[in-house]
Amino acid sequence: MSSSIQSKKILIGVTGGIAAYKVAILIRLLIKQGAEVKVIMTTSALDFITPLTLSTLSKNPVLVDFFDRKSGEWNNHVELGLWADLFLIAPLSANTLAKLAQGQSDNLLVATYLSARCTVMVAPAMDLDMYKHPSVQQNFDTILRHGVTILEAGTGELASGLHGQGRMMEPEEMIDKVSISFRSQMDLKGKVFLITAGPTQEAIDPVRYISNHSSGKMGIAIAHEAAERGAKVHLALGPTNLKIVHPNIDVIPVVSAQDMYEAAKAIHPTACCVVFAAAVADYGPAEVSSQKVKKSGESLTLTLKKNVDIALTLGRSKQEGQIHVGFALETENEQENAIQKLGKKNFDFIVLNSLQDKGAGFKTDTNKVTYFFKDHTSLVSEVLPKREIAKQVVDLIKTHLDKQEQI
Ligand code: CTP
Repeated sequence: MSSSIQSKKILIGVTGGIAAYKVAILIRLLIKQGAEVKVIMTTSALDFITPLTLSTLSKNPVLVDFFDRKSGEWNNHVELGLWADLFLIAPLSANTLAKLAQGQSDNLLVATYLSARCTVMVAPAMDLDMYKHPSVQQNFDTILRHGVTILEAGTGELASGLHGQGRMMEPEEMIDKVSISFRSQMDLKGKVFLITAGPTQEAIDPVRYISNHSSGKMGIAIAHEAAERGAKVHLALGPTNLKIVHPNIDVIPVVSAQDMYEAAKAIHPTACCVVFAAAVADYGPAEVSSQKVKKSGESLTLTLKKNVDIALTLGRSKQEGQIHVGFALETENEQENAIQKLGKKNFDFIVLNSLQDKGAGFKTDTNKVTYFFKDHTSLVSEVLPKREIAKQVVDLIKTHLDKQEQI
């Protein structure tokens, strides 16, 4: 069987880090599988591995600057970006990560990244504290929203002598990921997804509202995963300051539960899969004051009325073959409540978040979940980055869709 890597044009970006030595092995493996490989290095990568090694292995000149002083030629980053079927940056340093997230273009590698239209994968390599740092994690989230696939660093001994997460993924494992990506890149092509995400805001008056702590990260990560795999995604998204740019994602910004319902209802008949990841406010003020409510008296009573339950309502008009996925965030009787919602809202499966698990919940970048299925089976995940949970959710949806197609 021919490899999915055969004849693919793969651009490797090498940044400064001790793990750069592993890139030699990576290139050798890619060439062995029949790929055409070109390499761009940053100047700091030159301190870790020689361009001669990489040009010999890749059978192509290694590019570092915009301008090649030897040949007098201009290295066109736009052409390179368009040439590649895949741009793999390995190792990815925290410095280059920040440049990718910010859209800086002060070297050939990052300028090419900005011009690339192909799949971009990055294999970070950092010290453990750096890897965990909120700024670094935020930059990962940013590039993820821009459609980049992150090959998460492994855990083990690091160059600093410390032990923890930060080791670049091994070349053999990277080859597997690349191969899977070429094979499954478009396994959701032609599918339409509807995803609700983020919080809703229920106005009290022109300046105040009732809401919750949802960041929208989980739903956005699912939207990205599905979009990356070729699905057309309609994302009904409550107020969040996260920006989403992906050609396959159509963001429908909404504010209230009612807005979200209207948006979801309009798309629902066309979607083969609906993911209800939003933290919809269950109640909103019975009356919205047209003027700012003035302070008076020692207490204030607000009357709330029940909002539309989007999942429940759309669950009643679920079509044959359509997959509905719900989320539940519980603080007590977690399993019972989640299983009850699974049945009541006509979900195919429900993803239970427990606030009692360390590393799970609203504000974290990681999550630990339990999946409950209609056939009374369940599955528990480890504590994983939300983007990894998103992959699991989309894989489970794909399995359900495949089963439906076999019927
Ligand atoms: N949901 C929804 N519309 C609502 C409330 C919830 O679409 N008005 C969806 C959520 O997106 C989630 C699922 O229903 O997928 C369960 O949400 P959750 O808030 O856990 O459940 P509720 O039914 O609101 O019950 P409670 O808040 O009492 O736990």
